[in-house]
Amino acid sequence: MGARRGAHFKLPTGRFPLKFHEMPARIQKPPRHWRQEIDFILISQEQLARRVHALARQIEKDFAGRDLVIVALLNGTVVFLADLLRRLSLPLRLDFIGVSSYGGGTESAELVFTKELRLDVSGRDVLLVDDILDTGKTLSQVKVKLRKLRPRRMKICVLLDKPSRRVEPVRAHYVGFEIPNHFVVGYGLDYAERYRNLPFVGVLRPEMFKHPDFIPLLSAKKRLLLQGVKTTMEGGTKDLNHG
Ligand code: IMP
Ligand code: MG
Repeated sequence: MGARRGAHFKLPTGRFPLKFHEMPARIQKPPRHWRQEIDFILISQEQLARRVHALARQIEKDFAGRDLVIVALLNGTVVFLADLLRRLSLPLRLDFIGVSSYGGGTESAELVFTKELRLDVSGRDVLLVDDILDTGKTLSQVKVKLRKLRPRRMKICVLLDKPSRRVEPVRAHYVGFEIPNHFVVGYGLDYAERYRNLPFVGVLRPEMFKHPDFIPLLSAKKRLLLQGVKTTMEGGTKDLNHG
């Protein structure tokens, strides 16, 4: 894992994030039918379930008695969100924002909003949920947009956090797992819109990035990104360079 640096943003502290080094060191093999595509399981079903349960307890405590609106970003949050919601026993409302960061087909970080928020969040407590906090470009722009709607307060919850990749000074208040710089799929996260249905979070085999079946399915932005993919089988590190 990269060095912790950068006074411009602070890593989340307290007991919310489970650091990668706190996870069991055992490398878990994916089920046989996924082995040709998935290198290894980074976070198992059991680890996900336990962590989502703990996040839900914390969120319930922090938002008790508040007028809570959960705003989730599509599409990567669907699996995490469905599990989290079922564990939250407090009154809440739910809405979605659709975002795509590669609508323009360039490597620019311009976000395209594919679905707008419908619920009124003014004066209410918002919990903004995303699948993964990577460079922070998505959440920083969504935050600006939501702030204009004048919520009473806004907290961010992400399943995964890759702090070593951060470009924008965004901080999540609730983090499921802080992970090293792997490109991960499963539990809602995709590669070329595939793998969202894996019940675990896994690391894609490096050869899948260049797989001819996938290249035409990728957005122009992802194709550009993948030209910068560096892989080492030994260390298992994959470095996606965002331009
Ligand atoms: P950011 O704007 O760079 O923070 O990226 C946020 C979005 O990029 C996420 O919501 C994901 O859709 C996507 N993303 C970033 N890292 C990964 C990954 O490792 N696997 C799958 N999607 C990712
Ligand atoms: Mg996403």
